[in-house]
Amino acid sequence: MAKTSEKDFSIYFQPPSLKDAKKRGKEDVKVHYNFEIPEEMEGFGIGKKYMIRTFGCQMNEHDTETIKGILEQLGYTDTEDRTQADLILLNTCAIRENAEDKVFGELGHLKSLKRENPNLVLGVCGCMSQEESVVNRILQKHAHVDLIFGTHNIHRLPHLLKQISFEKEMVVEVWSKEGDIVENMPKKREGMKAWVNIMYGCDKFCTYCIVPYTRGKERSRLPQDVIQEVRELARQGYKEIMLLGQNVNAYGKDFEDMDYDFGDLMNDIHKIDIPRVRFTTSHPRDFDDHLIEVLAQKGNLVEHIHLPVQSGNSEILKKMSRKYTRERYLELVKKIKAAIPDVVLTTDIIVGFPGETDEQFEDTMSLVREVEYDSAFTFIYSPREGTPAAVMEDNVPLEVKKQRLYRLNELLAEIGLKKNQQLVGQVVELLVEGESKNNPDMLTGRTRTNKLVHFSGPKSLTGQFVHVRIDQAKTYLLTGTLVDVEKQASAM
Ligand code: 5AD
Ligand code: SF4
Repeated sequence: MAKTSEKDFSIYFQPPSLKDAKKRGKEDVKVHYNFEIPEEMEGFGIGKKYMIRTFGCQMNEHDTETIKGILEQLGYTDTEDRTQADLILLNTCAIRENAEDKVFGELGHLKSLKRENPNLVLGVCGCMSQEESVVNRILQKHAHVDLIFGTHNIHRLPHLLKQISFEKEMVVEVWSKEGDIVENMPKKREGMKAWVNIMYGCDKFCTYCIVPYTRGKERSRLPQDVIQEVRELARQGYKEIMLLGQNVNAYGKDFEDMDYDFGDLMNDIHKIDIPRVRFTTSHPRDFDDHLIEVLAQKGNLVEHIHLPVQSGNSEILKKMSRKYTRERYLELVKKIKAAIPDVVLTTDIIVGFPGETDEQFEDTMSLVREVEYDSAFTFIYSPREGTPAAVMEDNVPLEVKKQRLYRLNELLAEIGLKKNQQLVGQVVELLVEGESKNNPDMLTGRTRTNKLVHFSGPKSLTGQFVHVRIDQAKTYLLTGTLVDVEKQASAM
């Protein structure tokens, strides 16, 4: 095995720096349409198998689709069996400490596999790779890792794999500063629903959050590129699109020579012949009247809005740097409900932010009662190194935080059940996803508002739209009876 010179090696040792990742420059973001597999790498993966484990959010899931697309263009095939894999990648999440613990646990398990099969290439990518402390820990304690790359240089994967093939040292290539937008990377999508990025990065810098550091500055894809991708997915028969961005409401704010925002994009996508369009995640601060007006047209724009509140107390919101107050958030909710009366609202909530008092937590409880969310993702605050909140004084004992989380979840379950019970007797439209995991005699589908419904029917309905009458409601599940199958869907 040839070794590279020191000079070459330094190119492949670029660890991350959170300090650099924090900077926001004024440089224009370029868009590239010329991604291709380098000639010398064509067929590199033929006869080899890969396995990817993905942690975290839908953005990461979608990145995995791109990584799979690149690997399959190189000739690799996928496997679920780790003992068969020539390449294992962990696409990681940094949002909370327990997400990171899972990855380090997995790296520990993979040590023996690597010992048995020294030719196995083991890589770590995704948000954790963007953190200095993580890369240092891997360098010191997990020397069996061969490759670390980040969220900004996925398109470099073919080059990095080539480098590993003749490099004995760990290859580390993480860009702290975001790169340009690379448009035409291949994607391996599965199923009838498709994720579509509309923007990358986040400039909000909420004080608890690591994302602005791991995903770089806000960069919007050009409207024509997003629209063309959605049109193509519609043509291919996809039934549902999920538009992705860390803060979709900031879409277009970085366009220098164009006045075009998220409302405009949704309005254009509304005209495309694809049955359902969703988006995630919204930031309440930038959620404007124009967008509400556009969403109120409905059609393919479904009546579900995920609107993370994080806390119901204005002082805590200020410490979180969320840039809205409890009152402004509630006003926004009021406007949305007035414009879209059957809207389903869901949210994200953090309990036990540094210094959160009992009274401040009670404000979160009362806001939840007032908004009546159908469901929510709830978290105990987890300090992230390098973020401002990590150095704030925190005098709230973990036991108290756990108790708050428990009470909050009880309240959300109670409201969720009440909301679901209101659906009993109604006929709803479902996109059928297939057999239920727990009961193969039942099919499962999702309503426009993303609620899970079980009903009995032939498996051939998978991928189609049906109408179902709701018979029974539980907190997280509805059951119903098939009424009819939509013609439009069966013709597609
Ligand atoms: N601790 C706990 N929860 C967090 N989130 C983001 N950062 C943290 C953190 N440090 C939550 C927020 C966000 C969701 C994706 O994860 O609620 O909306
Ligand atoms: Fe994190 Fe706030 Fe950006 Fe969401 S808006 S990704 S919580 S910094």
